[in-house]
Amino acid sequence: MLTLTVELERRSYPIHIGEEILKNADLFAPAFGQKKAAIVTNTTVAPLYLEMLKSTLESIGIQPISVILEDGEKFKDWQTLNRIYDALLENRCERNTTIVALGGGVIGDLSGFAAATYLRGVPFVQVPTTLLSQVDSSVGGKTGINHPLGKNMIGAFYQPRAVFADTRTLDTLSDRELSSGIAEVIKYGLIRDLPFFEWLEENMERLMARDQEALAQAIRRSCQNKAEVVARDERETGERALLNLGHTFGHAIENAMGYGNWLHGEAVAAGTVIAASLSQRLGLIEESDVERIRNIMKKAGLPTAAPDLEADTYLDLMALDKKVEEGRIRFILLDSIGKASIRSGISSDEIVGAIRSVHD
Ligand code: NAD
Ligand code: GLY
Repeated sequence: MLTLTVELERRSYPIHIGEEILKNADLFAPAFGQKKAAIVTNTTVAPLYLEMLKSTLESIGIQPISVILEDGEKFKDWQTLNRIYDALLENRCERNTTIVALGGGVIGDLSGFAAATYLRGVPFVQVPTTLLSQVDSSVGGKTGINHPLGKNMIGAFYQPRAVFADTRTLDTLSDRELSSGIAEVIKYGLIRDLPFFEWLEENMERLMARDQEALAQAIRRSCQNKAEVVARDERETGERALLNLGHTFGHAIENAMGYGNWLHGEAVAAGTVIAASLSQRLGLIEESDVERIRNIMKKAGLPTAAPDLEADTYLDLMALDKKVEEGRIRFILLDSIGKASIRSGISSDEIVGAIRSVHD
């Protein structure tokens, strides 16, 4: 078991990572200043882990209610968010009621937004149960929902009080979801941590085989990278935008293909290959670097080709990206493997050329 800290002065919080954390009542106790809690989860995760978490919380005198939502990215919407508010109001949840997100990034983003807005903000705790949510979405306080016109377009920055990542919950995760999480792990290596990228190249088979030690190492190093970036730029006025490598293209893919049909990490993987190809076309990296990135994505069982959409579909969807400034799309590009920067003013021809270059 290890604990990292996201350093945000008075709002600093721990990320606990390790096996069987869900059963560790002593670890949970300090995160709850009061006796009432609402666990938000979904129909897949509830039968697996809800009773375990409830009994841990009950053993420290907390009386949790449960809110069980439909499972899927397509439910990360306004209607589902309202179901959380309904349950909180019906159960007379108060300002000091802690909302606990038990699940992957969809549950974490939805419940975090509910916590940010219910009664103008109530305490929030993350219990991420997918690799993607343990290495990325549960840390850093981005919360929100999708809009039919754009991914994650409605939301708030709202930090949790604590994150509890029980690596044993990954035992029940499908191989496809595991790979999806690895896309975000690879991202940290690409944007700011060359030694980690090299470690991933060497250890990808171990990760895919769910070697506990390798998984713990990947989660730890990912969370360290994320915590450092968030501590320096909580509200994404600069450096934090680098965490969106591959996401401008990826969000367009997720939306165009219908939320949930391409998993988030799959879309990010294909988007990262496009971003790498664009970086190469602009003379920032070599073709051999792009090949290295393709290879690691393939080893992780991730797509390296973009879906065959009209160029205008990509451009229209990307024009709604949150990084757009004064109408100009800003891209995260690679200066080398292990170093990224944010750039704008790139011609549509170059963008479309990069997208076309990564089709099958
Ligand atoms: P997800 O929440 O949809 O979970 C993936 C699937 O795994 C779901 O079917 C879920 O029910 C199931 N599941 C969860 N835990 C399980 C377990 N232990 N065993 C078996 N099945 C389990 O998807 P995700 O990949 O966790 O998260 C993707 C979402 O996160 C996207 O909406 C993305 O936009 C968001 N995201 C947010 C941030 C952020 O900073 N807030 C960062 C990255 C991604
Ligand atoms: N997942 C990108 C961020 O948290 O900023």
